[in-house]
Amino acid sequence: MTDKLIIFDTTLRDGEQSPGASMTREEKLRIARQLERLKVDVIEAGFAASSNGDFEAVKAIADTIKDSTICSLARANDRDIGRAAEALKGANAWRIHTFIATSALHMEKKLRMTPEQVLEQAKQSVRFARNLTSDVEFSPEDGYRSDVDYLCRVLEAVIAEGATTINVPDTVGYAIPELYGNFIRTLRERIPNSDKAVWSVHCHNDLGMAVANSLAGVKIGGARQVECTINGLGERAGNTSLEEVVMAVRTRRDHFNLETRIDASQIVPASRLVSQTTGFVVQPNKAVVGANAFAHASGIHQDGVLKARDTYEIMRAEDVGWAANKIVLGKLSGRNAFKQRLQELGIDLDSEAIVNTAFARFKELADRKSEIFDEDIIALVGDESVTP
Ligand code: KIV
Ligand code: ZN
Repeated sequence: MTDKLIIFDTTLRDGEQSPGASMTREEKLRIARQLERLKVDVIEAGFAASSNGDFEAVKAIADTIKDSTICSLARANDRDIGRAAEALKGANAWRIHTFIATSALHMEKKLRMTPEQVLEQAKQSVRFARNLTSDVEFSPEDGYRSDVDYLCRVLEAVIAEGATTINVPDTVGYAIPELYGNFIRTLRERIPNSDKAVWSVHCHNDLGMAVANSLAGVKIGGARQVECTINGLGERAGNTSLEEVVMAVRTRRDHFNLETRIDASQIVPASRLVSQTTGFVVQPNKAVVGANAFAHASGIHQDGVLKARDTYEIMRAEDVGWAANKIVLGKLSGRNAFKQRLQELGIDLDSEAIVNTAFARFKELADRKSEIFDEDIIALVGDESVTP
């Protein structure tokens, strides 16, 4: 049987924590509409208690979006949780996501609290949130660097208080896939009431492994929710990238045997919108949404793709919202790709000899110019010197 994988998008909360990525209420609402079209299950719309602006943004999203659960982050205290509920209450479905740090380092140096105090505060805040909504997520911040015995105590206690989702953050991107996967599995195996909650992964990308860690948390650990952002936007090196997780699970369904609700054709529009709104340019070689993700420049690859696309493509550009794949003409291109482009441009050269001459001129030009555009080809074949 195929299990469902819940996609929890935090572009508007953790993504916005990226320096320089802050968004206005209207910008957030526009992105939330696109996330709804993308069919994400949960939209973390912001951190309602953090500012009046964020409260208003969470409220506007909660009042507008109908087809996704809307969530607000809240520290583990009554004021934050109350503010989150106040902002969210107009939504069709809403969730409070409360958190407190559980690593020795964070408890001692940042919170200046003892482990017993943190445990009590975690329990009390989940209890308080559960009086306001039946959908409560709890995150032990810096969970991956926490002592596993202590973490088991905290998580067992918050599940007993009614937390319905347990999210295990790798807050500083310190995890390694196999270790993170085993960590989630250990927690689920050791906590007696673990099956009362959905397990969730939340990974940061400091070592470039956020997607791999999340997928290990799913495959090895049995997590059934992934927290992620469009384009991997997020603090420092970012968060797990939504498009990579979704397409990995879809393309390697043979391995994961999981399904998401995501409408993949909305991925590229979502990526463009987030990039334009935040001003964060997507690197050209970024998986799935980079400008070169479906572009072929080498002659051998172009020839292969023109004969059968799956020779060098494991996904279809059109399936994720690109108009088409791209054959980029340049010095590495072969005669086949050149001829194909002539055909697409409606240029019918009289004989193979003329094609050969035009191709030789194309190669000369390509040595001087890194990419040959359609206009270059039209100019090149329009020149009478092509004729032998
Ligand atoms: O990275 C993190 O620990 C977080 C939590 C607040 C969930 O974003
Ligand atoms: Zn985070």
